[in-house]
Amino acid sequence: MGAGVSVSSRSPHAASEIPRVEVTHERQTAEGLDGERKTVTALFADIKGSMELMEDLDPEEARAIIDPAIKLMIDAVHRYDGYVVQSTGDGIFALFGAPVAHEDHPRRALYAALRMQEEIKRFAERLRADKGLNLQVRVGANSGEVVVRSIETGQHAEYTPIGHSTSLASRLQTLASPGSIAISEGLRKLVEGYFTLKGLGPARIKGTSEPVNVYEVTGIGPLRTRLQRAVGRGLTKFVGREREMESLRHVAEQTKSGRGQIVAAIAEPGVGKSRLFFEFKTTSQSGWMVLETFSVSHGKASAYLPVIDLLRNYFDISAGDDERKRREKVTGRVVALERSLEDTLPYLFSLLGIVEGDDPLAQMDGQIRKRRTLEAIKRIILRESLNQPLMVVFEDLHWIDEQTQGFLNLLAESIGTAKILLLVNYRPEYSHQWNSKTYYTQLRLDPLGKESTDEMLSALLGASPAPATQSPGASQERSAADPQVAGWVRALNGIEDLKRLIIERTEGNPFFMEEIVQAQFDEGVLVRNGTVHLTKPLAELKIPPTVQAILASRIDRLRAVADARRDRPGVRVVAGQARVQRKEE
Ligand SMILES: Nc1ncnc2c1ncn2[C@@H]1O[C@H](COP(=O)(O)OP(=O)(O)O)[C@@H](O)[C@H]1O
Ligand SMILES: [Mg+2]
Repeated sequence: MGAGVSVSSRSPHAASEIPRVEVTHERQTAEGLDGERKTVTALFADIKGSMELMEDLDPEEARAIIDPAIKLMIDAVHRYDGYVVQSTGDGIFALFGAPVAHEDHPRRALYAALRMQEEIKRFAERLRADKGLNLQVRVGANSGEVVVRSIETGQHAEYTPIGHSTSLASRLQTLASPGSIAISEGLRKLVEGYFTLKGLGPARIKGTSEPVNVYEVTGIGPLRTRLQRAVGRGLTKFVGREREMESLRHVAEQTKSGRGQIVAAIAEPGVGKSRLFFEFKTTSQSGWMVLETFSVSHGKASAYLPVIDLLRNYFDISAGDDERKRREKVTGRVVALERSLEDTLPYLFSLLGIVEGDDPLAQMDGQIRKRRTLEAIKRIILRESLNQPLMVVFEDLHWIDEQTQGFLNLLAESIGTAKILLLVNYRPEYSHQWNSKTYYTQLRLDPLGKESTDEMLSALLGASPAPATQSPGASQERSAADPQVAGWVRALNGIEDLKRLIIERTEGNPFFMEEIVQAQFDEGVLVRNGTVHLTKPLAELKIPPTVQAILASRIDRLRAVADARRDRPGVRVVAGQARVQRKEE
């Protein structure tokens, strides 16, 4: 560790998207103790009643049960890039979002928790059959701020967090019924929709004055992306982006006339890549077939995930369809498309995990099989584009896996003369090989400009007030000395001050604006009755954890870049928006 975030002041809008990075020496303190504030998700998992479980067992026998269970827990944590802080005799304590920040640490933690329970259940079934033992695990998780630091113990460095939020996670674990996952109200807010949850009601927890609402995580929910979640909440009025929409309309026309196009929208998180595509898609959908897919942040390790998703979408496969139903859907559609495409079926079945009986491709060389699989999907997509123009949307390529990249490269080569519009988006750290293509267009999205920012804030908080003297209700007889009028003017000024503060802090990032405004409503700082009011004098802005997580992961990314460049023991990142975070401390 040893890296610190320092404060820089920059004027709003002058900012380029990418924060400045400065690299400085920053030595570890002599004792090797160094604190860093982070928002993390803590996860505790513990084997239920391990004492009774092992009562009649020889220590070696007990070990043969406990160790594999602990290993399954640790593997699940690592799969989602979590960090195991501690492995006690019969459980683990893990962190997501530290030492390395991940903007989606709450989701990663719960994916890990679900996977852990699934794997443990499978293991427990064997134990029950073989030894008649009943092994169950409780999991608890919570998100919140901690200070993390590494302590040199002499032999090695221990990296541990301090904070109430981890204790709460630990208590939640003890509250979870065996085989289940319990989370806090705070974590629920961050993951609702991405997971299915069951309210367990309020519980008294030692160390907290108020009872806390506890929820059980029961499975994966219907939402996949942040924008889908925003759609659920109600989208803010779409502002700006006229130039980009115009470019998109233009390439769509070219595509329709048989000159396929690739468009890449590039921007930092939250600037509006997904929203731009969403708006374009919904306003120009008629006559098109739209196929959408996206990479997920922990997706690099899973081959073909976005491609599989795209195919499920195309073949209209739903979660409830069993294997036979899936095979029917795929076969039916392929044959209807063109009978000669039947030879693609074994590849599709294999990729979708719906092979019946022995896999006819099992003996095939891996490379050949991969090439033919990609070729098969490409043929289907190209053939489909003869029926009507096709819009293929691939989001968040910065998280793409190698196989999916292979597919995109193949597709990109062959769409120049097809009615296919390939829309991709990604963050600036990603790159590809399509820049030199004549049918490639790049759209670099800047944060929203002054006008669009004002418009968006008006949509979120109400329009700017007219000057006080012309305000409705400020009649001739009433002067600003009238306490009622004075109060009204002050309240309006409050909202205007708030807008200014938000603009300054978010630098035109629409996601940050929405989240900060929403947080003020959640906190009761803002209320809406007809118009929006401030309920208390404006002091500091509370930065919601969703925004903090994005900032923190960006800082860590920059830090890694700086580290690689200078190879120094410590770095300091000066990020325009990092100061948002520091002010909070
Ligand atoms: N031009 C815009 N006008 C209004 N809201 C926007 C605009 N661009 C983005 N947003 C909102 O900001 C949030 C983040 O946008 P999103 O497209 O998800 O960002 P990205 O894909 O770049 O991470 C979304 O809730 C979205 O609706
Ligand atoms: Mg997006």
